[in-house]
Amino acid sequence: MNSITVVNALGLQCSVKGGALPNKHVAQDSWNVECKLARVTRLPRSTKTVFASIGNGDSVDSREHGTRQAMVEKPEAPEVQRSSEESAFNWNTQWYPVAVERDLDKNSPHPATILGRPLAIWWDKSTSKWQVYDDQCPHRLAPLSEGSISEEGHLRCSYHGWTFKGDSGECTGIPQAPKDGKQRHRSKRACVSVYPSMEQQGILWFWSDLSQGPVNIEAAANPPPVFSELSDPDFGYDISLRDLEYSYETLIENLMDPAHVNFAHHKIQGNRKSAEPLNFTITTKIAPSGFKGEDEKSVETFIPPVSFLLQFTLGGNNKQHIPGTNMETREEKNSEKKATKPKKVSLLFLCIPVSPGKSRLIWSFPRNFATFLFKITPPWVLHMTNNLVLDSDMYLLHLLERRLQVEGPENWFKRAYIPTTADAYVAGFRRWLNDFAGGCPDWSGRFEDNLPPSPPKRIILDRFNQHVVKCKSCSNALKNFKALEVGLQILAIALVGVVAASAVVPFRPVAALSIPLVIGAVVSTILSKWLAHFTYKTFYFHDYNHAVVK
Ligand code: FES
Ligand SMILES: [Fe+2]
Repeated sequence: MNSITVVNALGLQCSVKGGALPNKHVAQDSWNVECKLARVTRLPRSTKTVFASIGNGDSVDSREHGTRQAMVEKPEAPEVQRSSEESAFNWNTQWYPVAVERDLDKNSPHPATILGRPLAIWWDKSTSKWQVYDDQCPHRLAPLSEGSISEEGHLRCSYHGWTFKGDSGECTGIPQAPKDGKQRHRSKRACVSVYPSMEQQGILWFWSDLSQGPVNIEAAANPPPVFSELSDPDFGYDISLRDLEYSYETLIENLMDPAHVNFAHHKIQGNRKSAEPLNFTITTKIAPSGFKGEDEKSVETFIPPVSFLLQFTLGGNNKQHIPGTNMETREEKNSEKKATKPKKVSLLFLCIPVSPGKSRLIWSFPRNFATFLFKITPPWVLHMTNNLVLDSDMYLLHLLERRLQVEGPENWFKRAYIPTTADAYVAGFRRWLNDFAGGCPDWSGRFEDNLPPSPPKRIILDRFNQHVVKCKSCSNALKNFKALEVGLQILAIALVGVVAASAVVPFRPVAALSIPLVIGAVVSTILSKWLAHFTYKTFYFHDYNHAVVK
């Protein structure tokens, strides 16, 4: 078996193995390309070198241009080419997650924007499934997500009352059409466009191609990925969602970069003092279908366009702390002592392109230990930490991608300096994005290239609209806390009122209790103030200033 090693300008060292050295027409498919980051060996100018590209046919001296071309120290080294079926990733024929099914209210339609497409999601009781409609009424384009569910269970436009039903999206009524006239609602032009959609493992997905309507052969043949942990009864998990004020590319990069946790999430998920070298290795070739990687204890899988999964087995040799809670770290220590069934925890991230500068994240951290905690902990308690983690780097990521826009995202490899293996997955993702996926999501001409203007930080970290209104547990908790806050205020006023009344109309038992009653009123007032502060920070806005967190 032949083997060649190539090292690109980024320090991405690739071993290419195969039965025979391929000529330039041999598909890369038949070769096993193992990539790992390594130090680039700087060759003196006099050394004769041959440059070959990984993944495309360009041939440019990477010392001068700093691009992703590979430097090969064997004159006979081949060009590594993609097969024709690997040539492109089509953003417009993919499944995308839309929402967490648990958090959807069946009594009203919901808006969403995914890959620039405005969607109206509603519960269709006639088919017992969630429908995903194009969010524009065929009459005069009013958003159907602002509509209502009719008595018959059809989706009703709120503007003039046209109604639509089921998988077909056909119009079932035009209130303005004469009953005895032409059946205008039967016209094809009166139908709403319906996306293929499906619910799987608690997540609602839609297929981004409308051309074949709700029954799409390609969509049926390529269902969304199934995550075994979410179907395994040994695992417990929560699942939730947040909209983010930065792009899909920035979101995936951030999640493929555990090195940032100890700094960006200092004292929430990590600690600055715990930073250490991370040895990530991409173990498969980077293909339109994604790539895999690993370090000493975890395996990472990127399944384009949205799924990134980190799977940890606790108690391994790896010294790296798991990005998680202290409790998980204790479990890790326990598992080393007991050597029982391996304890596993996965971090599942679904990174959803919304529009330039905006993305949606659905996350779940299933684990096969301490699962009872999921039964006794209300989701909103878990979401407090989840949201704080997201808040603590949201602002810097929002600004970061505006810096990159100035440089031009296509220049990422030139502009970013990534000298350590900690950035292996980030570089791998950028390679996938640039080589196969056109450098950014395909917005189908819906947007200008530029990011939207940057709003104030208070809006960027708007936890209420980004999460709480879309989360049943947090919405209910907020409602209850507000009721409690009002209750405490009423109690304080009532206690003061009783004491005041007893002063006017002397009543011995109350007079004897006047001091405790006044203390009770003060305590109620303080509690209601504290509760107002707590609900504001938990459900509306929680600033995180890296400079003041020591
Ligand atoms: S715009 Fe929907 S009924 Fe008129
Ligand atoms: Fe929540």
